[in-house]
Amino acid sequence: MIRKALTLAALAPVAALAQAPADAAIRHGEYVTRAADCEVCHTSPGGAPYAGGLPFKTPFGTIYASNITPDARTGIGTWTEAQFARAVRHGVRADGAQLYPAMPYTSYVKLTEADVAAIWTYLRTRPAARNVVRDDGMGFPYNQRWALAGWKAINFSDTPFTPDPGKNAEWNRGKYLATALGHCEECHTPRTVTFGLSRHAYAGAMIDGWQAYNISSDPVAGIGSWSQADLTRYLSTGALPGKATAAGGMADVIGHSLRFLTPPDMAALTGYISHVAPQAGSAQSRFDAGAPYDVSAAVRGAPPSDDPSGAALFSGNCASCHGRSGTGTGADRYYPSLFNNSAVGADTPNNLVQIILNGVHRTNGAGQDILMPAFADQLTDAQVARLATYVIDMYGHRNGTVDAAQVTALRNHAQTVIPGWLLVGVPLLVLFAALVVLRRRLIRSHSGVSR
Ligand code: HEC
Ligand code: HEC
Ligand code: HEC
Repeated sequence: MIRKALTLAALAPVAALAQAPADAAIRHGEYVTRAADCEVCHTSPGGAPYAGGLPFKTPFGTIYASNITPDARTGIGTWTEAQFARAVRHGVRADGAQLYPAMPYTSYVKLTEADVAAIWTYLRTRPAARNVVRDDGMGFPYNQRWALAGWKAINFSDTPFTPDPGKNAEWNRGKYLATALGHCEECHTPRTVTFGLSRHAYAGAMIDGWQAYNISSDPVAGIGSWSQADLTRYLSTGALPGKATAAGGMADVIGHSLRFLTPPDMAALTGYISHVAPQAGSAQSRFDAGAPYDVSAAVRGAPPSDDPSGAALFSGNCASCHGRSGTGTGADRYYPSLFNNSAVGADTPNNLVQIILNGVHRTNGAGQDILMPAFADQLTDAQVARLATYVIDMYGHRNGTVDAAQVTALRNHAQTVIPGWLLVGVPLLVLFAALVVLRRRLIRSHSGVSR
């Protein structure tokens, strides 16, 4: 009896110890998984977390994000850790098939083995969710996954993250957070003709019909005019009054990922980003456009109309929150000013139109929901175009009009117009891939090496 009690007492702390590191490992895995922002893409609206199904519309068809829960039949429950690491860093599925670069392995290839292991540990603890994900959204020849080997031969470089010995540990951590975990370049760096990342890092690019702005250190085209404290405030809350607020994909990045970064990681990230090489672009700053302008005079006494003017649309739909002069309202500009606002001052109207159509839904640094209603159901494409033109005229750089066709294209997510050369170019890539594979076979059969 006494002996039994003794053994139990001796075992108790050991059991507790075995428990503790596991919990810590899971929490660490959750932190890394958030920093890499896996959940956003792998969860469809209303669906179970990580169960996949979110569609990615490309000019070539639709790709659906995979189910990465531990479900054995429809998820990755039967995968080994090595197969998982190969998928995340090299874009190859357990069955050997190539993954489309909609899964950003071009950035994740730089993840450390320890971080991939941490993500794996965390994902294994998520509930298994049964969800069959479609794989039929791409038409011929783009559904030929093996041809992606050709794309990879040109655009994918299997180089791990190598710290720069000339820089300090904080700078290197910042670069790792930006390029590997945060994969900022996947949206903010322009693509080459073959859709690889170009050399103009952070020079700005179109993604899903949104403009992911130039965030290089250029003082006019980029965010060189922001202090590091400005950048920290924007990236951890999504709002920097008088300059920018985050909607669209950036709202997701902040709400699901960046707001969870520890203060030292956030400092490392912003320290790195605020010093990336300047990239030329727009000749006018998007942060200093516009001035207060009161819409009241323009609409006073105007009879109600079936075909309201831009001013009337603004007065009826926007002024209640953003103010009749566009100054913004609320404590700390909860409803932001429309002048000195990057979405209005930018050189393309895309983000402004997207915001009017889709509204804003973001979680701020304190975990509160920030909401602007969507107007897609209330306003026609012609009305959105007229309203956006009014907003740009009054609070932006007055750099052009928005036409209804542009709004229609963004509403239908027909974001990218496929240039003719692409229709020719991609089958050529397929051919190229075939040649690469053939050449490898030939070399192999000649040298007698089998792998
Ligand atoms: C920008 C969106 C995006 C992000 C971020 C993203 N993924 Fe993916 N992922 C995808 C898409 C889309 C696919 C499917 C690609 C295809 O079918 O070729 C995919 C496929 C996968 C697969 C292959 C599974 C299978 O059965 O096909 C794994 C594993 C995976 N992702 C894990 C992750 C992990 C882990 C993270 C975070 C480190 C992550 N993904 C972040 C979009 C994303
Ligand atoms: C999924 C695509 C995506 C990713 C990934 C992404 N961004 Fe963005 N980013 C955007 C879009 C789109 C905007 C414009 C948002 C708007 O107008 O509301 C933006 C805006 C910004 C802005 C504000 C610029 C301005 O002028 O308003 C900063 C700063 C920024 N991003 C930094 C980053 C950093 C740092 C990372 C990586 C940690 C990152 N972004 C990752 C899409 C992305
Ligand atoms: C019910 C209140 C409300 C109404 C009505 C409203 N907004 Fe907003 N708007 C918001 C909120 C909240 C935000 C997000 C602020 C943030 O991100 O911190 C916002 C953000 C914006 C932004 C900046 C987004 C960015 O990413 O930089 C623009 C531009 C904008 N609204 C334009 C409009 C226009 C044009 C209308 C009229 C069609 C309108 N809003 C109507 C509440 C409103």
